Amino acid sequence: MFKLLKQEGAARRGEFKTVHGTIQTPVFMNVGTSAAIKGGVSSIDLKNELKTQVELCNTYHLHVRPGDDVIYKMGGLHKFMNWDKPILTDSGGFQVFSLAKLRRIKEEGVYFNSHVDGRKIFMGPEESMQIQSHLASTIAMAFDECVENPAEYNYSKRSCERTTRWLHRCIAEMKRLNSLEETINRDQLLFGINQGCTYDDLRIEHMKTIRELDYCAGFAIGGLAVGEPTEIMYHVIEQVEPYMPKDKPRYLMGVGTPSNLIEAVYRGIDFFDCVMPSRNARHGTMFTWNGIIHIENKRFETDDRPVDPQCDCPCCRNFSRAYVRHLFKSEEQLGGRLAVMHNLYFYNTLTERMREALDEGRFGAFRAEYSAKLAQRLP
Ligand code: GUN
Ligand code: ZN
Repeated sequence: MFKLLKQEGAARRGEFKTVHGTIQTPVFMNVGTSAAIKGGVSSIDLKNELKTQVELCNTYHLHVRPGDDVIYKMGGLHKFMNWDKPILTDSGGFQVFSLAKLRRIKEEGVYFNSHVDGRKIFMGPEESMQIQSHLASTIAMAFDECVENPAEYNYSKRSCERTTRWLHRCIAEMKRLNSLEETINRDQLLFGINQGCTYDDLRIEHMKTIRELDYCAGFAIGGLAVGEPTEIMYHVIEQVEPYMPKDKPRYLMGVGTPSNLIEAVYRGIDFFDCVMPSRNARHGTMFTWNGIIHIENKRFETDDRPVDPQCDCPCCRNFSRAYVRHLFKSEEQLGGRLAVMHNLYFYNTLTERMREALDEGRFGAFRAEYSAKLAQRLP
């Protein structure tokens, strides 16, 4: 299913075939937590204007509202939001820990209160797989525990071992669900998740254990970008990467800045997702090929150039910095929508340019040119 097309150092150019189409990697998945990209961007925009390959949705949010039973009755997520390309669903294993109140973690799973109405919910590996099967995503993520950072060594070790036991239960349940006549996507794939906080030995031991599970179609590195310094994140990737199967995709969860993407691809990562482009856009922070700008800055008041003269997105093709600034200043919804479109287009173009650089054997030069430049904040 995963075909490695080119390699430059640890950096990989690949292709991942799914029932909903082939994903070209490296890829950035666009986050639509509740089956919608925040900022009023629809699947039609993603498809026609933004070069999106994969949309990411969240098990936890969709279970709470509208309920996975509703989405199942509507024929699954693809039909529900009119998106026929791949969808990856995160398992809830992270959202429960970051959003839900009053949670209690037991061997069987997690008890927590809904962040919407406070109602008591239980989610374990089987429930997460059942919900994701109802949603009928292309790729389901294993139910894991993302420990906070910093976390004690002994707690991280015990948590990691439980995440492994949960992965075995995820596999058994997904095999069962995929064998049922009434399952919408019986080809649903499962990705395992590596944990271990920032402890090298735990990370490596865990990866060595889960890579043996052939049923997993890919592997993710979780538990990063949760407050640790960037250098530590890069260090963990370097530790784990040699133990990840070469013939399966690697996904770095919840990362990151444009520069983080370049540096992680350099270290062997293929898949990414992050709320950063859409969240920052809604606050007026926009990524450009020269660095990061804040569109509300006074210096853009009468600037008739596009947000990024090098960009072909719907915002840059049609509107000036002065106009987008005005929309933000007057709190018009259109400002957020245009900024989100621009930032997603930027991220999708960034991964596209990395793929082209890898195809042509010049990723090293690409990294040298852009890694630091894209991280700078312009005045
Ligand atoms: N998203 C970002 N980090 C994580 C993680 O560690 N686990 C899961 N399931 N999702 C994530
Ligand atoms: Zn643009």
